[in-house]
Amino acid sequence: MLKLGIIGTNWITQQFVSAAEETESFALTEVYSRTEAKAKDFADKFPSFDVQLTTDLDEFFASDKFDVVYIASPNSLHFAQAKQALENGKNVIVEKPSTSNVRELTILQETAQLHGLFLIEAARHIEEPIFEKIQSYVDANKAALSGATLSYMKYSSRYDDFLSGKNPNVFTTKFSGGALYDLGVYVVYDAVVLFGEPKSFDYQAEILASGVDGSGSLTLKYDDFDVNIIIGKTKNSVMPSEIYFGKKTLLLDSGGDITKLEESVAGQDIKVIPTTKDDNPMDCEAVEFARIIEQNDQDKYQQLSRYARIVNRILEHARASAGIIFEADEDK
Ligand SMILES: NC(=O)c1ccc[n+]([C@@H]2O[C@H](COP(=O)([O-])OP(=O)(O)OC[C@H]3O[C@@H](n4cnc5c(N)ncnc54)[C@H](OP(=O)(O)O)[C@@H]3O)[C@@H](O)[C@H]2O)c1
Repeated sequence: MLKLGIIGTNWITQQFVSAAEETESFALTEVYSRTEAKAKDFADKFPSFDVQLTTDLDEFFASDKFDVVYIASPNSLHFAQAKQALENGKNVIVEKPSTSNVRELTILQETAQLHGLFLIEAARHIEEPIFEKIQSYVDANKAALSGATLSYMKYSSRYDDFLSGKNPNVFTTKFSGGALYDLGVYVVYDAVVLFGEPKSFDYQAEILASGVDGSGSLTLKYDDFDVNIIIGKTKNSVMPSEIYFGKKTLLLDSGGDITKLEESVAGQDIKVIPTTKDDNPMDCEAVEFARIIEQNDQDKYQQLSRYARIVNRILEHARASAGIIFEADEDK
């Protein structure tokens, strides 16, 4: 089984390591945290694994105790951490978005290639069976495909902190935060995987005092149709997402965390399309990413790398058009 080191000890890393444990895809062997107490707390949650702890990033990457690192730190730290990992012979699974801009992603993908390693952006939802079902539906009805409205807007648990004058990472340009780079990634992945690369796009954003987008509306233009995307971290949307096929409509309960599919014919007759969903939404990606690395599945890897390039290009150009500048851009 592949041996796993982790960076970032928040709930998302717990969820990934639980998925690794449940699916027996990775064994946790090393934990990096900035503080010993957090590293220990994290490791204590997984008593079945024999784990080494460290608070020194150089020591972590020099370790021979793991083959793959899962990086779930704030977005702007991904680049330097992933680069150091690759230069130390580790495969990388990095949380979305893998980088702050295309320049960084290109360097990482080239570094991975140079060292014969994998750099995988963890777009978890496209690995789930429910997403495959959507893909099959779109493929089967492609001739009638006539656009989509995709929405993923959730009031962030950190927005109250932001309003009270604190500076949570995800609402800062320092850490490459904002609605597009947090929740928007999922929905842009939906469009790129299901419909391909758009011809052009336009992002209208509500910019917060910190300089990031609290919410926004992104239009992706394809040859014969538009995809309208609504994203936000400062309000809640309960409207479903829809993919249009002339008289038929496919309804998704969310553009990001999709749990239910329905079909409507002629604007009525809504019927549920049976699907499955794991309790832990990271189970499928854990299994698939381990399989890609262990079987050296270059076809799937190249496909994921291509998606990552298109998605990150859209994210960067869309935010630039809305006037959002990250500190990470200053290295250009
Ligand atoms: N796939 C998904 O469903 C999903 C869900 C949520 C988040 N994410 C992604 O996961 C990543 C982390 O998101 P998050 O909300 O967990 O971020 P976060 O809470 O801001 O930080 C995550 C971890 O990074 C470390 N960290 C925090 N601030 C830091 C700093 N200033 N310098 C160095 N390290 C720092 C902390 O670990 P230590 O204190 O142990 O060092 C912390 O637990 C993001 O890329 C996000 O997009 C993905």
